[in-house]
Amino acid sequence: MINEFAHEQRPSRWRLAVRRAIAGSAVVLLSATGVVALSGTAHAASTLGAAAAEQGRYFGTAVAANRLSESDYTATLNREFNSATAENEMKWDALQPNRGQFNFGNADRIVNHARGQGMSLRGHTLVWHSQLPGWVGGLGTNELRTAMNDHISQVMGRYRGQIDSWDVVNEAFEDGSSGARRNSPFQQRLGNGYIEEAFRAARAADPSATLCYNDYNTDGVNAKSNAVYNMVADFKQRGVPIDCVGFQSHFNSQSPVPGDYQQNLQRFAALGVDVQITELDIEGSGTAQANSYRTVVNACLAISRCTGITVWGVTDKYSWRASGTPLLFDGNYNKKPAYDAVLAALGGTPGGGDPGGPGDGSCTVTYQETDRWGDRFNGQVTVRAGDASISGWTVTVTVGSAQRISTTWNGTPSWDSSGNVMTMRPNGNGNLSPGQSTSFGFTVMAGGDWSAPRIGACVAS
Ligand code: G3I
Repeated sequence: MINEFAHEQRPSRWRLAVRRAIAGSAVVLLSATGVVALSGTAHAASTLGAAAAEQGRYFGTAVAANRLSESDYTATLNREFNSATAENEMKWDALQPNRGQFNFGNADRIVNHARGQGMSLRGHTLVWHSQLPGWVGGLGTNELRTAMNDHISQVMGRYRGQIDSWDVVNEAFEDGSSGARRNSPFQQRLGNGYIEEAFRAARAADPSATLCYNDYNTDGVNAKSNAVYNMVADFKQRGVPIDCVGFQSHFNSQSPVPGDYQQNLQRFAALGVDVQITELDIEGSGTAQANSYRTVVNACLAISRCTGITVWGVTDKYSWRASGTPLLFDGNYNKKPAYDAVLAALGGTPGGGDPGGPGDGSCTVTYQETDRWGDRFNGQVTVRAGDASISGWTVTVTVGSAQRISTTWNGTPSWDSSGNVMTMRPNGNGNLSPGQSTSFGFTVMAGGDWSAPRIGACVAS
């Protein structure tokens, strides 16, 4: 049976991010050329990403492109996280080392890896005083304005529709009690207005991206966070396009999780922006570290507009503060007590709950592109039962914002409000004996975007 659909509405950015996070809760089992296989069961979530998705959030990590060739690193990344941030590869010095000469290789590597795993992406960062190539510091006012706007439009344009949130401006305020803007080249030459100018350029470059201001030492109520708060309130009041504030959340014994962390995030959310925890790491070990992580996760979960958490690296051994062992996996990729605390706070269960018994059937999915024409392609998803028989299955298929699914067959689809996320259920082909498979298919109108759809985990019933 063929079903025809038209989908014109756009989702809110927040809903889209959550849908992507849920789609990203899959476990990749096998990847061969053109075929991606994912599995899932109806058990309680047993990974950070899947548990966060069940809370309507993402759980991400900073990723370094040069570590993707290490199998333990990549296995941990793929299994546990459903959002990725380039740790250094999208900074200005990495992307545009010489004026007009863009190097997208390492950034592309991270984007392609993340999208191939169904992860959402955070872009970090467009306008920042640090990791600026030397040529930027030598520009006069007009040249710097042009260079800033060009950089934003080139970088965001390249990844348009693929990066859910961008840190448009990073660390623009001084530490301490002054509440002043940091004396960066942007501040010196362009004055206070550079921040809103950057946000306007960013909105024009990718209207679907969530635009964030990101900073550190703004995690509690203090002079610096007050200054950021006043800026965001002013932007919202004047219609400057800002959607989100990122709280880096780098903590250690000198700078512990503030007692008013949740209250501070909440007051920003009340301004009408999302809040995100963007670079979380907490130096320490054992129970003390676990308790601090739990506090942070619970604060996010208590705030409906806290849309996700990113830790600043996969493993202690590659952390920018490696000696402080601030992350969730040790240098051998073992889960630390902090990991267990985070998973539990997110409502997950180690190992995914009790195996065996009714309702424990599982299924896996594989995706393949089967045909391509000038404006469209056909995709096929094969659903295979695990070791037990199943009587139903559910699989999500998420296409890019320029893409549209025009036709489906051998399944019963339903749609989110955007039309980009299709949830497919059986159409008479739900009963599968152990190892048995069935397929459904669909046609994607490419709209210039030929990337494969993201296929969520197969959920058996
Ligand atoms: O890759 C080169 C290597 O080839 C060279 O031999 C080596 C020698 O110094 O440097 C390597 O690059 C380093 C890079 O990290 C990759 O490891 C840079 O020197 C080093 O400066 C860079 O540090 C990064 C730092 O930002 C730069 O400011 C950290 O990895 C990164 O974690 C850190 O991230 C920042 C966020 O962007 C913003 N918020 C704070 C956060 C922590 O500082």
